[in-house]
Amino acid sequence: MDKSITLGEGVDSWNTIIFLYRSALKELGTKVEILNDEFQQVHQYNPIEYVKSRIKTPESIVKKLKRYGHESSIENMVNYVNDIAGIRIVCSFTSDIYKLAEMIGKQNDITVISVKDYIKHPKQSGYKSYHMLVTVPIFLTDRTIDTKVEIQIRTMAMDFWASLEHKIYYKFEGHAPEYISRDLQECSGIVSMLDAKMLQLNEAILEAKAAQEE
Ligand code: GTP
Ligand code: MG
Repeated sequence: MDKSITLGEGVDSWNTIIFLYRSALKELGTKVEILNDEFQQVHQYNPIEYVKSRIKTPESIVKKLKRYGHESSIENMVNYVNDIAGIRIVCSFTSDIYKLAEMIGKQNDITVISVKDYIKHPKQSGYKSYHMLVTVPIFLTDRTIDTKVEIQIRTMAMDFWASLEHKIYYKFEGHAPEYISRDLQECSGIVSMLDAKMLQLNEAILEAKAAQEE
């Protein structure tokens, strides 16, 4: 009965796989919502502005496998494409990102496979976000399947930057003119400044409010 397997072993139909990824997104979405509600209870504020999730399209799964030099097969897709199920959590402040990441990591049934901190170490492009690759157990009638989900946690400012950069990247098919890439990198610096300033401001507001209530 209680057989725990990793997705890929013995699961071979496209529909089953997509069903599992969808279930994993639902599970994680609910967990994140509960964390947000608990935060509201304890600290009287919601760290999360919004959450988006998506399943990668078959076209982009195939494209990614090709880019990695693998044939298109269910097995390869499950083994090599880590972001078939993706959830993006957008917060107000950078400090919320680390709090949330810690809370997610502490959940008993979530296994953190890897973490990439592109906030401490931004990409060459200027991209910033906190990435976690996790597995969530999906409980079926006769077995449990650990299913991968890519979590991206970022502030609203980081999200704004990433969505514009993504559009530009696609417009130029990855070869944007030098001055545009440079401007984007500069904007990434402004994003960090804005995030730091907003965090400071928020702390000042909280302090002023606490002093008033004394
Ligand atoms: P892929 O980039 O997805 O092939 O995998 P990887 O192993 O390099 O993962 P990484 O953590 O670097 O990036 C995964 C996801 O983060 C991407 O699918 C994007 O959603 C996002 N991302 C990474 N780099 C950038 C970037 O430079 N600009 C933008 N807009 N998004 C990025
Ligand atoms: Mg990448």
